[in-house]
Amino acid sequence: MSRPLKSVFKKEHSDDISNRSDNPVFSTVASAFLSRRRFLQMGVVAGTAVSFPMLLKPEEAFAALTQTTPSTLAKAVSLGFTSIPVSSEDSVIVPEGYIARPFYRWGDATGISGNLPAFKKDASNTTDEQAAQAGMHHDGMAWFSLPQGGTSPDHGLLALNHEYIDNGMLFKDGTANWNLDKARKGQNAMGISVIEVKKQGNGWEVVRPSSFARRITVNTPMQITGPARHNALVKTAADPEGETILGTMQNCANGHTPWGTYLTCEENWSDIFVKKGEMTPLEKRYGIADEDESYRWNEVDARFSVDKTPNEPNRFGWVVEIDPYNPTSTPRKHSALGRFKHEGAAVTLAADNRAVVYMGDDQKFEYIYKFVSDKKYDAANRDANMALLESGTLYVAKFNEDGSGEWLPLVYGQNGLDSSKGFENQGDLLVKTRLAADAVGATKMDRPEWIAVDPHAAGSVYCTLTNNSDRGKEGKAPVDAANPRANNVFGHIMHWLEADSDPAATAFKWDILVMAGRTDGADEKAKGSMQGAAFGSPDGLSFDHRGVLWIQTDVSSSTINKKAYQDMGNNQMVATIPGTNEYRRFLTGPRGCEITGIAFTPDNRTLFINIQHPGEGGDDITDPANPTAVSSWPDADPAGRPRSSTVVIVKADGGMIGT
Ligand code: FEO
Ligand code: CA
Ligand code: CA
Ligand code: CA
Repeated sequence: MSRPLKSVFKKEHSDDISNRSDNPVFSTVASAFLSRRRFLQMGVVAGTAVSFPMLLKPEEAFAALTQTTPSTLAKAVSLGFTSIPVSSEDSVIVPEGYIARPFYRWGDATGISGNLPAFKKDASNTTDEQAAQAGMHHDGMAWFSLPQGGTSPDHGLLALNHEYIDNGMLFKDGTANWNLDKARKGQNAMGISVIEVKKQGNGWEVVRPSSFARRITVNTPMQITGPARHNALVKTAADPEGETILGTMQNCANGHTPWGTYLTCEENWSDIFVKKGEMTPLEKRYGIADEDESYRWNEVDARFSVDKTPNEPNRFGWVVEIDPYNPTSTPRKHSALGRFKHEGAAVTLAADNRAVVYMGDDQKFEYIYKFVSDKKYDAANRDANMALLESGTLYVAKFNEDGSGEWLPLVYGQNGLDSSKGFENQGDLLVKTRLAADAVGATKMDRPEWIAVDPHAAGSVYCTLTNNSDRGKEGKAPVDAANPRANNVFGHIMHWLEADSDPAATAFKWDILVMAGRTDGADEKAKGSMQGAAFGSPDGLSFDHRGVLWIQTDVSSSTINKKAYQDMGNNQMVATIPGTNEYRRFLTGPRGCEITGIAFTPDNRTLFINIQHPGEGGDDITDPANPTAVSSWPDADPAGRPRSSTVVIVKADGGMIGT
């Protein structure tokens, strides 16, 4: 079946469901439990007592627990800034007393020594110049203090993702006169930037040149580690041993480790691979495209034509670990963390110091996963820590209707995961992670995006479920306790507390932090359960060092301020302290953008965020003849083009962000 262009270009896959498994779903019968839960959520809107957490007593969820990822700053008890109104302006707006400034825009020089090309606003930068400049579509991001091992709040590295590209903005003539060099320029505009940043007085600057500055692209050699290394499914003619993979792409959200490395996550990689022949069940389950009018790499670069290189897709869909402190280090794809459409990778430590990584698979009706390392983190041995993500146990989440939950191991030979279900060994199973999760009966979720671990409450974890307009539709999974809204166009945020507050536990209790939605109008199905700032389509999610939870929205650019989102304004960033149910709006973005990427300096006095795809007008690529039709942010030059950018935010009085 041919897919509409929008599902090829747009990354929220509005028409795209790959999970056609019939693994168990919850009863469609509204239990007394479910009815009560939903009543309580709506009751909050009506002004009745705040009921969060509904299943967990506050002392269970928020008592001073064993701190595995402790913050050095005291826990915030209230938000200090004044919530701002919604906005449809073409600018970044923050509360009074705060300053926000675009800082590292698409096309700005990364800072590579001897190679500092200036941005050309007519998109005439060459392919080689693009390899030394910020890519497009900034997404996940993390801060690393300099020097390595220190906690400087004024000097460090930012590693950030460039998730996808828009050929209508990248070239003067869009996809006309298509050739390999144009595909290569696009490949150089995706991947990762590592930049050195420094505070000078009250301002911040990108250090250029910097010995740390680096671009990682779709063609950077990397190693694959773990059980899928050397597996038959990852071997290709160009890499007959199944060891060395060229590049990473569709780098969405991220993680960072206690040992000072960056994790970048390969999300919608399947959009770029095109297969014209009959699809295998594995290709279908991962949603390999059968046409692509947006990237068009498959037409000129055989690697992306699955008919020509059938195993190349199996080499994408992984979490990649990068050492930002060593610009010549080889990135590693860790197969032990599973292969799917990885949104992010939130890292914490178990009670016994094993590394734990929480991960979402962002597509409708996909799953939430957790990895627990075999070996333990050793604060005194960075080299040994570098191996932690190479071996361990991958689990997938099952949310029971009674508020309990289980982490189901995806281990070859356990729970029927053997040749009878089509798995040959652990490496084979990991390439087919989604099929293994189907087989054990994981819970189909409403598009799991970012996951955040509370730094002030061990084992307390949150996950954004951005939306799922197909929930409850005929022939699709019905509502269930964890995904309780049919036609869920606004999304919600899950919370779970691991047994014994230990992230390595195999059982948990769960609840819903908030149902996103409107705070006006009479439509019960559209109501949000928050008090204060209304929002929908939560995506970016991170705690700061004070325990404030920051939420960034990604309402589809075809829906911003329209349809169910009429009068809700441009995409935004809100803050809450879990347990209060109070939400304040901290930032609104320019037109057509999503807000994403969250990195706080260790003193909580500087916040870096990313504005992604300002000026995106809808489901198609931008008209190259009119790139500023929707936005000209940040340069405000009608003859230029909108540019994704990192934004640096400080308080004018030098205070902590959020106060
Ligand atoms: Fe790249 Fe699911 O957002
Ligand atoms: Ca996202
Ligand atoms: Ca999203
Ligand atoms: Ca987006």
